[in-house]
Amino acid sequence: MEGMLSPAQLLQFYLDCGVDELLGEDSINRFELTETAVGALSATVMQTTAALPPALPPVTGTIEALGDARERARGAASLDELRACLEDFKGIALRRTATQMVFADGVPSAKIMLVGEAPGGDEDRIGRPFVGLSGQLLDRMLESIGLSRQSNVYITNVINWRPPGNRAPSDSEIALSLPFIERHIELVNPSLLVFVGGVAAKALLQTSNGITRLRGRWVDYKTDGMAAAVPALPLFHPAYLLRSPAQKGLAWADLLQLRDRARALNIL
Ligand code: URA
Repeated sequence: MEGMLSPAQLLQFYLDCGVDELLGEDSINRFELTETAVGALSATVMQTTAALPPALPPVTGTIEALGDARERARGAASLDELRACLEDFKGIALRRTATQMVFADGVPSAKIMLVGEAPGGDEDRIGRPFVGLSGQLLDRMLESIGLSRQSNVYITNVINWRPPGNRAPSDSEIALSLPFIERHIELVNPSLLVFVGGVAAKALLQTSNGITRLRGRWVDYKTDGMAAAVPALPLFHPAYLLRSPAQKGLAWADLLQLRDRARALNIL
């Protein structure tokens, strides 16, 4: 019928509005809710709940989980082992609401490693970091200085599961993820690191300074497991640049710094 949305268009409309979870099979006109309808709605919710997989065992307390995270991360001797021990890590509640874990993308032997914040909706669906709109901008930014995840860059995030509704990760989620991202950096052993956005920069540098102060300034990054420090450059997050295109000039200056440093090290 003319003017009506196709099912695919309707689903896209829901997604655009941020509706990305299915709670029941039937739609409900809440303007016409009667007592009978409320009863039917509760029955639907109960049926839906009954059809869900059995509840996962409770997440262990944060302190225990932190010890577990550190021990697991330390024990990982390769990227495959790190991925496997993260898959198996039950201490972070985000894994319950995410579709899948998002580990990394790009060339594991690359000399340049990028670390972003956390997967969004597209990354959660596809299982790779930075594949949504901001990821596409990131790819164009990298391409402008001769970098790409297909040839010379490795990309991951501090957090490996999507925070529901793309909310900011909490301090405890970041703390529980730090042992894994630190080990991830040790195993990739890059010559240059890029922190994409304020959350990644603050988490890895353990600072409360904002990205406006941090961006464009090289800092030395070192974990206990690294023999020497690696130069790291915080950049504006591409999602921020999409919202604030006037900042793209500063981001371009930062990218040129990255290109020059990579050229000086003969890795570009
Ligand atoms: N933003 C991030 O920081 N990481 C992603 O993977 C996607 C969006």
